[in-house]
Amino acid sequence: MCGIVGYTGPKNSVQPILEGLSRLEYRGYDSAGICLKLNGKLDIVKKEGKLENLRSLLAQSNPSSNVGIGHTRWATHGAVNNDNAHPHGNEDFAVVHNGIIENAPILKKGLLAEGWNFKSQTDSEVFLVLLTKFAKEDGDILKAISRAFQTIQGNSAFVIMEKATDRLFCVKRSAPLVCGLNPNTNEAFVSSDPFALIGYAPEIYFPQDGVIGCASIMNGIAKMAFYELDLSPSSRYLAQKNAMSLDATSKGQYEHFMLKEIHEQPGLIEKLAAFAIKGEGKKDFEQLRGKNPDFFHITACGTAWHAGLVIKNFFEKFNNIRCSVEIASEFRYRSPILKKGEVGLFISQSGETADTLACQELCKSHGLPTYSIVNTRGSTLYRDCDLNFLIHAGQEIGVASTKAFTQQVLTGYLMAMGYAGKLDQTEVYQEIKTLSDRVATICQESSKIKEIALKLYQKKGFIFTGRGVYFPIALEGALKLKEIAYVHAEGYAAGELKHGPIALIDDNMVNIALLGPELFEKALSNVEEVKARRGLIFAIGPKGHSELHQVSDMCYELDFSGLPTLAPVMVNVVLQLLSYHIAKLKGTDIDKPRNLAKSVTVE
Ligand code: F6R
Repeated sequence: MCGIVGYTGPKNSVQPILEGLSRLEYRGYDSAGICLKLNGKLDIVKKEGKLENLRSLLAQSNPSSNVGIGHTRWATHGAVNNDNAHPHGNEDFAVVHNGIIENAPILKKGLLAEGWNFKSQTDSEVFLVLLTKFAKEDGDILKAISRAFQTIQGNSAFVIMEKATDRLFCVKRSAPLVCGLNPNTNEAFVSSDPFALIGYAPEIYFPQDGVIGCASIMNGIAKMAFYELDLSPSSRYLAQKNAMSLDATSKGQYEHFMLKEIHEQPGLIEKLAAFAIKGEGKKDFEQLRGKNPDFFHITACGTAWHAGLVIKNFFEKFNNIRCSVEIASEFRYRSPILKKGEVGLFISQSGETADTLACQELCKSHGLPTYSIVNTRGSTLYRDCDLNFLIHAGQEIGVASTKAFTQQVLTGYLMAMGYAGKLDQTEVYQEIKTLSDRVATICQESSKIKEIALKLYQKKGFIFTGRGVYFPIALEGALKLKEIAYVHAEGYAAGELKHGPIALIDDNMVNIALLGPELFEKALSNVEEVKARRGLIFAIGPKGHSELHQVSDMCYELDFSGLPTLAPVMVNVVLQLLSYHIAKLKGTDIDKPRNLAKSVTVE
């Protein structure tokens, strides 16, 4: 959730750190800070609010230091203010942290009793104080990091800088961390995301849990070294070339990343289909054939969970495989029955969501094969699963997930088709092509959706309804609206309304009713029930049904022909644009909505 970037090398560290943080700012933006070495001393500058505030502060002094660590925060422990902003430091060490130290209160109590002082309310500072205490006792920073790390509980990543040398140290447990090297310029980096290092570090290293990384410059040569917690050399890390591209960092012609990402969907849909059906991905998508899973335990969070709810229908319908789809934070704390022959399937854009990773670990520990539907190659989920199905969405910067949902659902469809041996059937490619065309049309006609947004944006309550495969779309539509427009919205199975929520309906409540050709009459009668109670109705449904116009106040007609399976994705794009326009009219921060972070690496 928090963004971390560290640099050591021959140049001024401020530029690469700020650039890296700006690429990660979409992950957390409560405060930002940097620690530099100035005149041999550790100098920390930090400021509540967005990175821009830190930039302005730094512009006043224009500091230069060849080593530094920076951080953008998504607050967990301690209010959003300057004191709680990272880095946390003292005369000898500075620390940035992503994660939660679960036993921080008890450790802090003990340290306070021993006479140690704290400047913030964060759990992170507990690590700094432990490190300082152990370094005093042992006179060895590596040993001190190892001891401090073994004392704390919970999932975290730390980057540490010291006054004594220009080295950077890092260590993590179930939190993202990457080291980078540029052998041409002799610069070394540490970050919470390889995305921050694109263009800086062509070589990247992913240390495993409990491996201490050390970036140093020896005789002008940049080096990365890795140690186990007993300080013996470690080979538990993955080395890769940084193959990511920077295209994603620009909004291009669009006002927001979210809008750009919505508009990217037609191209991405076609690209994935070409890769999976006509290209080198075909064999990947047919891999399930030799595996014959009996049951998929699908787990995910948020939008990815909604994608799982759609995907379940594909495996059941085309492959006759039973599936459960559960919220990761629930699954991990139940005692799910996990049996031989069953498979854990995890859906995640980032591949770093703490609860989803915990479910993967749980399934693995029960001997289940684990597969992912994931966007980020090299992420923890990608590395830990036995089999990965990449969704090829490119970097998603908008905090509200749009194109990742579409690509996740499409990947699930292609997996089901690959397993059924149907990837070669012309109808499969044709349906995806049709989807891409229809999504492109919706994007071109975005002004029609804007007109509807104009009629709705001041309303206080929204109930999204759908039946069958449109129920998860109702959930996703409501999530998108609440997260970027800050209005109360609920997704409901249309048939459930009369079991309680219909009590909410009056002339202040908007019903966004999703109707597909399947169960059309039944869904229509649910809309009638809302109309009878004076609810304001915006219906999205198949064209050519005059009754849809009669029953609704506003209507958006769609062509469902040629989309027997993938129409829910098309309907969802209308909702993405509706949320976008409502949020824009309300003037919210669309790409960085309040209180949210892009990648939820704490549970
Ligand atoms: C909503 C949204 C979140 C994520 C969820 C899982 O727009 O983006 O609900 O879908 O936090 O994230 P990933 O897919 O990275 O595991």
